[in-house]
Amino acid sequence: MSDSDRLDPPVKLRLPDIAGMRARHQPIVMVTAYDAPSARLADQAGVDMILVGDSAGTTVLVGTSTVPVSMDEMLVFTRAVSRSPTRALVVADMPFGSYQPSEDLAVANAIRLVKEAGADAVKLEGAGRTITRISGIVEAGIPVMGHIGLTPQSATLLGGYRAQGRTADAAERLVREAVALERAGCFAIVLEAMPALVAERITGAVTVPTIGIGAGAACSGQVLVWHDLLGLSPGGVPRFVKQYADIGAAIAHALRAYAEDVRTGAFPEAQHTYGMPDAERQKLEERSAGPKPTAR
Ligand code: KIV
Repeated sequence: MSDSDRLDPPVKLRLPDIAGMRARHQPIVMVTAYDAPSARLADQAGVDMILVGDSAGTTVLVGTSTVPVSMDEMLVFTRAVSRSPTRALVVADMPFGSYQPSEDLAVANAIRLVKEAGADAVKLEGAGRTITRISGIVEAGIPVMGHIGLTPQSATLLGGYRAQGRTADAAERLVREAVALERAGCFAIVLEAMPALVAERITGAVTVPTIGIGAGAACSGQVLVWHDLLGLSPGGVPRFVKQYADIGAAIAHALRAYAEDVRTGAFPEAQHTYGMPDAERQKLEERSAGPKPTAR
């Protein structure tokens, strides 16, 4: 192999790379993942950031909300994801209850996600009281991504899973929240489910990248949930999702074919089984054909 044939190993992205992408108007690509094979595929596809979302509560743990997701569960998902990527930045969601009670708890749990599970950064939902938690975590040396608009952990308080910022007052509040998140030290901010115009205003009001989900095209990047994007969400997807594949149907088709083959004896075939050296097989056959041991 000549030097020119050798591929350079991918270089791990750092925060200045993400900031530089916004500065160059180069769209940032983020997707969620909850396990190592998915993270490897996302990384190989050139995704810039992988979010270990607490959406795991609905996608993987098949609950109806992200609220019950625990720190222990997030640690397992994050560990699985962070073992794979070589280039993508891994951001771990801080689950509900892991940062609200106090700044100390927020810092301790953020440290666990980085130190025990290998995350590069953490994500917290909301502004308000979350701001002090974010500054505490940033002061501890951990990069933080903010998240405003529809924040699923407080969906009940927000009146359900519905778009936010649809009045002038609510839109201005979101802009103020984004500015406060930037001041608190966030390196990027997720904008979820809000009018495109509001996301555009927010993106113009801050210098850090905005990552949209249901927030239009003016954001610095986009994020989608793995299961929604790939057709693995059985109950349908929100209107802002574009589904790029129907992997669920492909998996169901493959599993039905496998079950059919097992039931009809079509699987396994000779090429799926192990043989024995001829001499050993002969020995075994002679032994089975020989006299049976007498019972005492
Ligand atoms: O948990 C998650 O997947 C998220 C994204 C929807 C941004 O927070």
